[in-house]
Order: sequence, then structure tokens, then C-alpha cells
Amino acid sequence: AREPVRSICCIGAGYVGGPTCAIIACQNPNIQVTVVDLDQARIDAWKSDHLPIFEPGLRDVVQFARDEQSGGREGFRPPNLFFSTDIDCAIASADLIFIAVNTPTKLVGQGAGSASDLAYVEAAARRIAEVSTSDKIVVQKSTVPCGTAQTLRHIFASVAQNTDVNFEILSNPEFLAEGTAIRDLLSPDRILIGSNTDSRALQAAERLADVYAAWVPRERILTVNCWSSELSKLAANCMLAQRISSINSLSAICEVTGANIDQVAQAVGQDTRIGSKMLRASAGFGGSCFKKDVLCLVHIAESYNLHEVALYWRRIVDINEYSKARFAKRIIQSLHNTLDRKKIAILGWAYKKDTGDTRESAAINVAGQLIAENAHVAVYDPEVRPDQIISDLTPHHNTDTLAKRVSIYKNPYSACEGASAVVILTEWDEFKTDGLPSPVANGLDKEVLEVRLVSIPRRTSEGSRGSSESSWVKHDCSSNERSAENLAESPISEPETIPPRLGKK
Ligand code: UDX
Ligand code: ADP
Repeated sequence: AREPVRSICCIGAGYVGGPTCAIIACQNPNIQVTVVDLDQARIDAWKSDHLPIFEPGLRDVVQFARDEQSGGREGFRPPNLFFSTDIDCAIASADLIFIAVNTPTKLVGQGAGSASDLAYVEAAARRIAEVSTSDKIVVQKSTVPCGTAQTLRHIFASVAQNTDVNFEILSNPEFLAEGTAIRDLLSPDRILIGSNTDSRALQAAERLADVYAAWVPRERILTVNCWSSELSKLAANCMLAQRISSINSLSAICEVTGANIDQVAQAVGQDTRIGSKMLRASAGFGGSCFKKDVLCLVHIAESYNLHEVALYWRRIVDINEYSKARFAKRIIQSLHNTLDRKKIAILGWAYKKDTGDTRESAAINVAGQLIAENAHVAVYDPEVRPDQIISDLTPHHNTDTLAKRVSIYKNPYSACEGASAVVILTEWDEFKTDGLPSPVANGLDKEVLEVRLVSIPRRTSEGSRGSSESSWVKHDCSSNERSAENLAESPISEPETIPPRLGKK
């Protein structure tokens, strides 16, 4: 019989490490799971009621494993999920260590713009090599270029002081999508474990498989070689990104012809060989993975002199940039090619619904283009903090411009008030279902994310905030406590620069 894993350490308490370990801990009450991070504030947040990331269902799962459970159906259950900044201690006492640190695209140096930055992975690996005094299974969870497992083996071989300690390196990429992380983790399509093929490595892979087998059917746990595992993760993301770039390129054709992209997507998606998922036309895909992983594949292809292959995948990213630009262009054209001092409401800033994550969000790019046209953008997002929105825009605009041209609101109604256009950039359910004023709602009844330009009812001359214009606001908010309580709130920065009548049609 194999020795079961009793203690897990996860380095990196982010979007991958946090949710994954919470589920592992819930499903394996006999395993101690400690998630560590360099970032004290992040760890403190994981220990509190205000988790550092927003993810539906996450809080319940974390509280269940993190806090002592007494009574209830489960009876007494001691906690087995811990968060700490004492990285060395957690490494030392673990049998199995996940590396779930960030691997952003390199900004400088060789491969800048396409290669992944492995500095954080290497730092974590070195730490493990330095402080370990017993055998460890080291599991690479962050998406990394192919060959990283082999690189890690070299690092361990050169850094480890104690040659009696054995490090077994596995690749176990995470396939969860943000916003559905808990669902994805609870019923994954597959778990992929890559290892070397000697018996010690295979044994380590089986021990990791046992951790997942606590809730995942065995036939969904695939054990493969490390290269296959690493490439499969990149391949899956690249093929998904490719579908979105394909549908977005078709939506450009729809717009200049009589075709309707929703009808085309349905007709195409109903072909069982193609399938209906990941075919929503959008302003362009965002998130921390797609662009980064496609570029990572481009870099791998280039490094093996496979130029045509590299070019093929690079076009997926190019089409995505084109999609974002085209989206902004449509807004500008619909408003008579001038946005000067017009107020444009932007509903949604996160790269997709049900997350507060804004990495690579199309909203950043689209808003940037509108600001460059002298528009005043009024942003509302239910989960993204105002300082995040400003910091997303800061690299592209000076602070003066941002202060003048951007206001951030705590409720969608105020953001839309007096706007020339309402642009939905994240498909939050509340934009579909919360009884927005009917002209807005009419444009929002579909699932697809695309530019939706809607004229907002004109403010009557007597209509100050709270009287005639807000009659629709009041009416629609009666069924919506949150918006009602927010009604009185003013924007976080008052959009003084917008003349009250500009931009109304
Ligand atoms: C993705 C992969 O789905 C996941 O398996 C991998 O582990 C990480 O990368 P994520 O980026 O969290 O997950 O979200 P996903 O739902 O895939 O969406 C990515 C982007 O594509 C979002 O901006 C989304 O709005 C966009 N998208 C998605 C579309 O534009 N159209 C679609 O049909 C689906
Ligand atoms: P992902 O989306 O891949 O989970 P995140 O950026 O959300 O990425 O999380 C990665 C986390 O890893 C960050 O909180 C970061 O502080 C942490 N991290 C990076 N390097 C190290 C390290 N050497 N030791 C501990 N934590 C690290």
C-alpha cells in the first residue's frame, strides 16, 4: 500500500492556490493543508471574513475547512486548512508541496512580451530545496512553459544541500476558471498529473492521485509524462482562446452583412463536433491566462524555429487586440465620431462576471480608447475596488487626465445618469436581471457580451436627482434593496466636468 499524503504546503495564496487548497482540505479531513504567501496582507485576508478574492461559494468552503466545526451533520471537525507567512516551517513539515505562484509574461529581457517569467517559481523552488530535511513531492501547479519540471529538477539537484533528501517533481496544472472555481474544482473534467516514468516518480504521482481520488472518479485522473502535462494545459487554453478569437472575427463579418452573430454561434455550436461552449462573441477575452498562455506557446514555437506555428498562434492574440479596438470604434462611430466631453457609462470592469479580477480585462483597453477621445467615463462594477480601476488605467494615462475623465460609482443608476451611451463590458447577472430602466434593460436581455449602446431617457428640465428622471430609478429599485440603499450615494469622484446637457440625443 502507498503511504498516504498527510501534510500539504501550498506556496502562493492567489486565485489558484487558495480555492484549490480549500477544496482539497474539505475533501481530505486527514490531510493538514497550509497555504503560505510572502504577502502578509493576503494571508491575513484569508484568515478573515473578507477573503482576498471574490469567488462564488468560496467563503463557505474556506470557513468549513478553516474554522472548527462543532455540531451539525458533520459533528465535531477540527480545522485542517491554515494560512501562514511562515513559509519555511510549512515547507519543512509537508510531504507534498504545491507551487502556485504567479508566472506573468516577461516584460524585459530575453523573450520579453511572450516568454513566461519563472522568477517566482524558481525562488519558491530554491526555498524548498534549502529548507527541506525530508523527502518531498513538489507539484508544479502554475501554468508554465513546457520543460519547467525538468528545470526544477536541475535546480533541486544543484541547490539541495542534503543529498539524502529526494525531491520528486510532478506537473499538475489547474484548469479552474475564475467565477466558477468551486464548481470546476468539485467536478473537474479531468485531473492531469505529469511525472517521470521511473517507479519512484510513478509512486509519487499515485500518491497525488490519491489526494484527488477523495472526490474525483479515478477515470478522470490522467497520469501522463511531464511534457504532455505541461503542453496540454497550454494547448487547452490556446484552443479556447482560439475559439473566442474565431467567433469575434466572425462577429465583425456579421456586422457588415445581414448575419446575426448569436444565430451563427447557435447554428455552429449545435454541431456536436464543435459544441456550444466558449462561443460567446465579446469585446475580447481577458483574464490572467489566455493571452499569457498563447504567447507562451508562441515563444516555445519560436524557440524551436517553428515560425509558421508561432505566427499562427500569435494571430489569436492579434485578433483579440483587434476585437477590443473594433468595439471602441463602434462606440465612437455611434456617437457621431466625437466623444468630446460626452459621458459614457461603463458597466462592468472585471474581465468576466463573478470575479473581482481585472487582469487583461477588455474594459481597461476600451475605456482607455474612450478616454483618449476626450470622453468622460463613468464606471460601475459590483466587485472591483475603485483604486484597482485607477491603477489599471494609470500606466496608460497621466493622473491629471484620469482625475478629469474618470469617475467611479457605487451604483449603476448614477453611473448611467445623463450618459450618452451605456457600455456593458462584463456580463454581470445584475445587468440582465436587476430591472434596469427599460431602455437599458431592452438592450441587455441576451447572454452575449457585446457593445450595447442605449440611449438614456432625457432629463427633463425640472428633473434634478430624485425627481422626474429618477422616477424610473426609484421604480426599478423598489425590488432591489442594494441599489435602493445606494441611490443616495454620489460618485466616488464627482464628474464636475460633464455639462448636464451634453451628449443627449
Ligand atoms: C481560463 C480557462 O477557462 C481555464 O480552464 C484556465 O485554467 C484558466 O483560463 P478564466 O480565464 O478564468 O479561465 O475564464 P474563462 O471563462 O475561460 O474566460 C476567459 C475570457 O474569455 C473572459 O474574458 C471571458 O469573458 C472570455 N470569453 C469566454 C468570451 O469572450 N467568450 C466566451 O464564450 C467565453
Ligand atoms: P494565480 O492567479 O496564478 O493564483 P496570483 O497572483 O493570484 O496568481 O497568486 C500568486 C501568489 O503567489 C501571490 O499572492 C504572491 O504573493 C505569491 N508568491 C509569489 N512568489 C512567492 C514565493 N516565493 N513565496 C511565497 N509566495 C509567493
